[in-house]
Amino acid sequence: MKEVLLGVTGGIAAYKSAALVSRLVQQHIGVTVVMTRSATRLVAPQTFEALSGRTVHTAVFGSGRSHAHIELARNADLFCIAPATANILAKAACGIADDLVSTLILSFDKPVLFAPAMNTVMWNKPAVQRNIKQLRADGMQIIEPASGHLSCGETGIGRMTEPEHIAETILSMLTR
Ligand SMILES: Cc1cc2nc3c(=O)[nH]c(=O)nc-3n(C[C@H](O)[C@H](O)[C@H](O)COP(=O)(O)O)c2cc1C
Repeated sequence: MKEVLLGVTGGIAAYKSAALVSRLVQQHIGVTVVMTRSATRLVAPQTFEALSGRTVHTAVFGSGRSHAHIELARNADLFCIAPATANILAKAACGIADDLVSTLILSFDKPVLFAPAMNTVMWNKPAVQRNIKQLRADGMQIIEPASGHLSCGETGIGRMTEPEHIAETILSMLTR
C-alpha cells in the first residue's frame, strides 16, 4: 500500500483537506496527517483521525518516541502540504525547521507537493513568488492556486485547488 504524509498548515482551506484524506483513503492509500499549531485552531485533529484512522501528529517533542519525525518521513512515499500557507512556503524555501511540518519537509527525501492557499495580496507578494520559485528550483512540486471566491470576501487568485485535483496529482506522482 502506498503511504502519503499530509501536512496541514494554518489556512482556512484546511477544512478541504478533510475531503482530500477521505478521497485518498478510498483509493486505498494510507494517509498520516501532521498539523501545525495554527491548523489545529481551524480544524480539530480528531476530524483527520476519524478520516485517516490514524493518530494525527502535531509536535516534534512529546510524542513518546524520540525520532518520530524521522520515522514519519521514512514511512511515506510522498509528502503533500495542503493547504500550504505563505509561512510554510517561506520556511521550506529557507530550510527552517522549527515545528513538526517544517522539520519533516527537511527530513523528507522523496517527492514533496505543495498546494498553496492564501489571499490574492499575499499570493502576489514578491516574497511569496520568490519562495515558490526557490521551492521549484529545489525540486519541489507546486499545485498553483485557483481563481475564484476567497474566504476574505474578495475574488481573485489564491484558492486552494480542489481536493479532487490534488488527489489526482498525488495518484499520478505515486504511479510515476
Ligand atoms: C481564519 C484564518 C485564516 C487564515 N488563512 C490563511 C490562508 O489561507 N493562507 C495563509 O497563508 N495564511 C492564513 N492565515 C494566517 C496563518 O494562519 C498564519 O500566517 C500562521 O502563522 C501560519 O502558521 P503555519 O504556517 O505554521 O500553519 C489565516 C489565519 C486565520 C486566523
